[in-house]
Amino acid sequence: MRIAVTGGAGFIGSHVAEAYLRAGHEVVVVDNLSTGCRANVPQGAELQVMDIADPALVEFLIEQRIEIVNHHAAQVSVHLSIQDPLRDAQYNVLGSLNVYEAARRAGVRRIIVASSGGTVYGEQQDLPVTEAHPLQPLSPYGVAKVAAEHYLRCYSRLYGIEAVVLRYTNVYGPRQNPYGEAGVVAIFTERLLRGQTPIIYGDGEQTRDYVYVTDVAEANVLALQPSACGVYNCCSGVETSVNALLEMLQQLVGTRLSPQYAPLRIGELRRSACSYARIACSLGWYPRTPLPEGLARTVAAFRKCGRE
Ligand SMILES: NC(=O)c1ccc[n+]([C@@H]2O[C@H](COP(=O)([O-])OP(=O)(O)OC[C@H]3O[C@@H](n4cnc5c(N)ncnc54)[C@H](O)[C@@H]3O)[C@@H](O)[C@H]2O)c1
Repeated sequence: MRIAVTGGAGFIGSHVAEAYLRAGHEVVVVDNLSTGCRANVPQGAELQVMDIADPALVEFLIEQRIEIVNHHAAQVSVHLSIQDPLRDAQYNVLGSLNVYEAARRAGVRRIIVASSGGTVYGEQQDLPVTEAHPLQPLSPYGVAKVAAEHYLRCYSRLYGIEAVVLRYTNVYGPRQNPYGEAGVVAIFTERLLRGQTPIIYGDGEQTRDYVYVTDVAEANVLALQPSACGVYNCCSGVETSVNALLEMLQQLVGTRLSPQYAPLRIGELRRSACSYARIACSLGWYPRTPLPEGLARTVAAFRKCGRE
């Protein structure tokens, strides 16, 4: 199949593009390189440097005979969405809507979208939460992700486009940008490797659900199946505190740096873990990579990057 991956020069999108190529599909990456880079685009995929809000996207999808759109391009920082909610909505609501509208007009059959299990539910009750948990986001980023999900469902009902939403929890792994606002594993790993003090916001006992990026990429391959439809959490189902995560990384890197504790930032949840029962039952997807193994691979990749 011919698949356009928006955000394919970024962290998760580049792994998704790689997994699609490996599965024998043809891949075109659409990315404005705002946080992504050319080097991330896997060999065999074409790169079109373009903003997802560009009205010319529809002509591009038609010219390229795209059958499936996989939408990963986004503003990914919760913190930035609180500082500048209008900009966040421009990228994550209007940008997403332009992708759907272009896909509809280009006759695209299926749209697969990256959403966020860590933010759309808000403060989570009865962990691990299922897809039926109320949607009560605490940040403009989470609100935009919910809006993008609703628009997609609406497009599916109105135009019969096949729609799949994958709600990722905290994705980590090689190629995650350590210099952004998001991605605690990448940020901690980079700081520890440089011998710099890691900063923890709050008491570090807040929990997150960490899922390895190649497992997430595999979910995107399974989301191509005709039977894949609707919303799926894509997660590990396991709660890990930020303090415990840092401890694991310190052991892998071989450091014993005392973290600096800073005030908790608004919009952050106390606890987070999602259930993968639905995606396991419907698509046969499981998080295959245990956290210690995924962290070891991530640290090894960051070390290798530092030497290159
Ligand atoms: N990283 C996580 O833990 C996580 C968790 C849940 C959901 N997600 C979602 O997964 C997707 C990918 O996130 P990521 O962590 O790989 O981030 P990333 O910043 O590495 O990737 C985003 C990519 O989109 C591109 N991009 C941004 N705005 C664009 C625009 N207007 N037009 C074209 N390209 C644009 C960037 O250049 C970058 O290559 C996002 O939709 C994000 O919200 C990520």
